[in-house]
Amino acid sequence: MKHFLQLRDLERDQFEHLFGRTRLIKERFKSYIAYQPLADRMLAMVFEKSSTRTRVSFEAGIHQLGGSSIVLNTSETQLGRGEPIEDVARVVSRMVDIVMIRTYEHSIIERFAAHSRVPVINGLTNEYHPCQVLADVYTFLERRGPIAGRVVAWIGDGNNMCNTWIQAAQIFGFRLNVCSPPGYGVEPARTAGAGREHLEIFTRPAQAVAGADLVTTDVWTSMGFEAESEARLAAFDGFTVDAALMSAARPDALFMHCLPAHRGEEVTEDVLEGPHSVVWDEAENRLHVQK
Ligand code: CP
Ligand code: NVA
Repeated sequence: MKHFLQLRDLERDQFEHLFGRTRLIKERFKSYIAYQPLADRMLAMVFEKSSTRTRVSFEAGIHQLGGSSIVLNTSETQLGRGEPIEDVARVVSRMVDIVMIRTYEHSIIERFAAHSRVPVINGLTNEYHPCQVLADVYTFLERRGPIAGRVVAWIGDGNNMCNTWIQAAQIFGFRLNVCSPPGYGVEPARTAGAGREHLEIFTRPAQAVAGADLVTTDVWTSMGFEAESEARLAAFDGFTVDAALMSAARPDALFMHCLPAHRGEEVTEDVLEGPHSVVWDEAENRLHVQK
């Protein structure tokens, strides 16, 4: 059985097949052509953290494919009253065909998957967000062609998105320039195996962005880290993606952000709403790639 817990759970040729399917599925959707191979199939979604895009894209997506979904928010289920994740996995996976989970530590989704009878998809953990980077790489492909050989700059927190981009660089063959404030860089364990051709760490944002084909960032405080938000606000000073920073990238560089965005913190309003930004395509493409 195949789970999708990290981006590297699939290989490049499988992603290429998937992107071909995405294009077809998106075209059919845009033309109002029904495509419902998943009639009678049920997706369960377990949310231990908030969501807008992930919930809507999975719920709309499974419905469009002919299936149905059940949303389980921790606070409304026995998970919130301490039922072990292993027990929830064994019960839920006897009743549905596929499960998506958004949770805290990655070890939680691994424990769920180890006890599940059906495939499990990572809808975000503290460590990884593979569905989002899948949509982002597809969005780059749509706009600029293959991402292989390109330069992507990650500015900001060494978080779940950054860790997933590190895997993407190795899978798809591009270079990722990462620049984070001291103390908020990627954990050494997440960079293991990434050579210089795929990952370079910078101390100054403008150096990381120089010549980039894509500049991307994310919130300074991810879900689950709210207690650190005041310290982070101070530490990330100087790491805002603004027009001056974008001008160090290639003139045709794209700007991505997985959203939700905090205007005036990690990105300025003019960059988010400006000509480089493809953030709304990124969000939409969650639907198509996940289907
Ligand atoms: N980008 C993303 O995963 O958004 P949500 O938190 O709204 O699902
Ligand atoms: N890094 C962010 C992404 C939100 C989609 C978080 O984990 O909160």
